[in-house]
Amino acid sequence: MKPMKVGLLGIGTVGSGTYEVLNRNQEEIERRAGRHIHIAMVADLDTTRAKSLVSSDCVVVSDAKEVIAHPDIDIVVELIGGYGIAFELVMAAIESGKHVVTANKALLAMHGTEIFEAAHRKGVMVAFEASVAGGIPIIKALREGLTANRIEWIAGIINGTTNFILSQMREKNWSFQQALEAAQALGYAEADPTFDIEGIDAAHKASIMAAIAFGIQIPFQKAYVEGITQLQSQDIRFAEQLGYRIKLLGIAKQTQAGIELRIHPCLVPSKSIIANVEGAMNAVMVQADAVGTTLYYGKGAGGEPTASAIIADLVDITRLHSADPLNRVPFLAYQPQSMRDLAILPVDQIVTAYYLRLGVADQAGVLASVTGLLAEFSISIDAMLQQPSHAKEERTELIILTHQCLESSMNAALKKIQALPTVIEPIVRIRKEELI
Ligand code: NDP
Ligand code: HSE
Repeated sequence: MKPMKVGLLGIGTVGSGTYEVLNRNQEEIERRAGRHIHIAMVADLDTTRAKSLVSSDCVVVSDAKEVIAHPDIDIVVELIGGYGIAFELVMAAIESGKHVVTANKALLAMHGTEIFEAAHRKGVMVAFEASVAGGIPIIKALREGLTANRIEWIAGIINGTTNFILSQMREKNWSFQQALEAAQALGYAEADPTFDIEGIDAAHKASIMAAIAFGIQIPFQKAYVEGITQLQSQDIRFAEQLGYRIKLLGIAKQTQAGIELRIHPCLVPSKSIIANVEGAMNAVMVQADAVGTTLYYGKGAGGEPTASAIIADLVDITRLHSADPLNRVPFLAYQPQSMRDLAILPVDQIVTAYYLRLGVADQAGVLASVTGLLAEFSISIDAMLQQPSHAKEERTELIILTHQCLESSMNAALKKIQALPTVIEPIVRIRKEELI
């Protein structure tokens, strides 16, 4: 059978990893796919570098449109990134009747709906396993492996950079800045790390997972997003004293009221598996009604781990390209006509537990006034920690863990607590999940 011909757009970290792994494991991959998969063309701005990475049977060009227009190319793999030129190229590839593979979570979060609609019209596949959690086959698990289940919630460590930073801040007592610089030096962070540290990259990925889990359009614009830039080392230490670690979680939860979609730093029990996912590793927990809890762990970034997901998509397309489009796995797991328009809840409607740190005057009655106000809003306390104050200090620190409550109740309580004359510093509030 004639080989499946692939055109790569961009041969940077993931592109070169894909080229390398596909060549190295060609025999195994062909035994599985039933057909040889050949990267026949590569487009990259730096053609000299690109030529040094590929062999002579691969044509290198500088204009990605040449790859898309080439009649021999069956699958276009977009590995440029961003949602400018990448969007244009993906849409052009679909219009030309090519199947598309992409690792570009930002592109799908912003334009997934248009891309899938165009692909549906043209009867081509758009595969995106690498867009969430790099090498972990979480899209496959959610879209196919868990298809019998009603998915209740997903909670993931889906950004390696921030997980690395939080691990170093806890283990080595590093400052945020020190840890960020190390993440950049190790190549985990994006060139502009804003998307990583502000939680936007994790929000792209959580939105894609939410769409597949609940059969909704990718709800990125409605996600609540909070990064890790405001986190202070002392909160990581206090959390640890109370038996918790702080992780940046992407949470998508189906509740009676609607969908919670939130990305924020979160206390998780130190003994939980997810708390022990350290360094740049990723993990996704899925709670589903029939199977219960499942956990997916692995490398969320890097050339070869991400290539593993890209090539799995190439094999899927090779196996399925001749199937009737109606018999293929739907892009977002649910048949297009069965997608729902479920409400994404505003953040004040979510239900969660909290860690609070209050800098207060070290006086009689302070604790009673704080706990009294929490009780006024039916917020129940789970644990407390008070730091012994030094002889001459007139302030102390109160750390309170609460049980779950509605975020709007917590907001109202905190407004009143902050107004107390004895609460002398801005209150720190971090959400907490037991994940059970
Ligand atoms: P890189 O920046 O390493 O590679 C991108 C490549 O695309 C570069 O070689 C760049 O060339 C080239 N390029 C830029 N513009 C064009 C263009 N118009 N035409 C052709 N080539 C172009 O990115 P990554 O490989 O790290 O990431 C690729 C995608 O994979 C992104 O969407 C990213 O979010 C995603 N991803 C990355 C992971 C990782 O671990 N790196 C993990 C999971 C997903 P030049 O350098 O000359 O500008
Ligand atoms: N910058 C991303 C991360 C790369 O740190 O997880 C993988 O998407």
